[in-house]
Order: sequence, then structure tokens, then C-alpha cells
Amino acid sequence: MPEQIDPDAEPQLPVGVGPWPGGPDAWPDDPRYDRDLLADGDRRNVIDRYRYWTMAAIVADLDEKRHPFHVAIENWQHDMNIGSIVRSANAFGAAEVHIIGKRRWNRRGAMVTDRYQHVRHHEDVAAFAAWADAAGLPILAIDNVDGSVPVDRSDLPERCVLLFGQEGPGLSPEALAAASGVVEITQYGSTRSINASAAAAVVMYEWCRRYA
Ligand SMILES: C[S@@+](CC[C@H](N)C(=O)[O-])C[C@H]1O[C@@H](n2cnc3c(N)ncnc32)[C@H](O)[C@@H]1O
Repeated sequence: MPEQIDPDAEPQLPVGVGPWPGGPDAWPDDPRYDRDLLADGDRRNVIDRYRYWTMAAIVADLDEKRHPFHVAIENWQHDMNIGSIVRSANAFGAAEVHIIGKRRWNRRGAMVTDRYQHVRHHEDVAAFAAWADAAGLPILAIDNVDGSVPVDRSDLPERCVLLFGQEGPGLSPEALAAASGVVEITQYGSTRSINASAAAAVVMYEWCRRYA
């Protein structure tokens, strides 16, 4: 009988790297390396440069080169996009991610990247706006509402907070009022909007295209 293949089974392909070749005698003498990872292998979703490094060493290295843009998202309904936005913020080197509203957020889409990313919570838009004001960071609302400017023609400041809304309602009136400008991504199809995490990735990429 041929082996039956379960179509719903998770693929079990090995990812990452195995134990450091040569055993403990060949381990690098560098405190950034994690002895458990050297012994057992490193299966984490990290770039090759960080293989076998401790999480603290990776965060410290990222802290040296994070970009001066921040990302914020309203969280009134446990939006599933937040995890993906955190992952993209990590990939594009955002200084910090800000969650406005509910403290709990769905981490699934983050794929553990939140452990390498600074994430700050704000009770409401007023508290977030006060923080941004104290930090001297303009808030740029990202939504396709009346009066928004296409991102490719917008004045995207180098130091700023990019503020995204939720699936369904989009940005709240308070969030739009707290922003110094509103930026949209030009669309060409029939749908009213793209997914919030897709929108976040597009705008972060545009920021990196200009400044990184
Ligand atoms: C799914 S949208 C919902 C709101 C949207 N204004 C509408 O009328 O359907 C959720 C969030 O994704 C972002 N977004 C989606 N499409 C966008 C676009 N074309 N331009 C800018 N932001 C967008 C915004 O941050 C928005 O608040």
C-alpha cells in the first residue's frame, strides 16, 4: 500500500541550522552566542547574521540601527492584522510599534517578531497623541478618506508616526483629528480598501525607499 498523505498536515521541512559544526570545542568565544542554540541548533525565524545569537544580543544590535519612523494601530476590536503589522515593522526597522486601545492583541501574525520589537501600549488616542507630542513626532494618518494625499506625492517626514486603522471602521474620528496629515495608497480595483497590514507594509516600504 502506498503511504497515505494527510493533506491537512503541517509541512515538516527543517528550517534554520543544526548544532554548531565541530561541537563545543569549536564554539565561538563571543558572549552574543547562545550556548543552548550552539548545542541544539537554531530553528528561529531570524536572518543568517543572527544565527545562534541570544535574543538580547539581537535586540541590542537592532537597537543600534532602528529607523526613526514609528508605527501605530488602533485596537478596539482585536484586529487580526496587528500581528502582521508588528512583523512588518520588525522587517522594515521601525523604531517602535504603538497599540492604541485594548491592551491585548492577537500575536499570531507576528510570528514571534514582537520579541525583537519595542511595543508600547496607549489607553486611547489622547494618551497616544500626548506621547507623540512629547516625543516631537508628527502623526501621519494612513487611510483613504476625503482629503488624503497619495503616499508617493506626500511629504512623508523622516521622523514620524504612521497611524493605521482597523478592518471595518478604519481610523476613528479622534485618530484622524490627532494627525497632521492623511496619506492614502492609490488603488485601481473595485474594493474600497486593502488589508490594514498590507497598507502598513506598503507605506513602511515607501518610507524605506526614501530614507533607508
Ligand atoms: C480595511 S481599511 C478600512 C477603512 C477604509 N477607509 C474603507 O473605507 O474601507 C483598514 C485600514 O487599512 C488601511 N488602509 C486600507 N486601504 C488603504 C489605502 N488604500 N490607503 C491607505 N490606507 C489604507 C487604513 O489604515 C485603514 O484604516
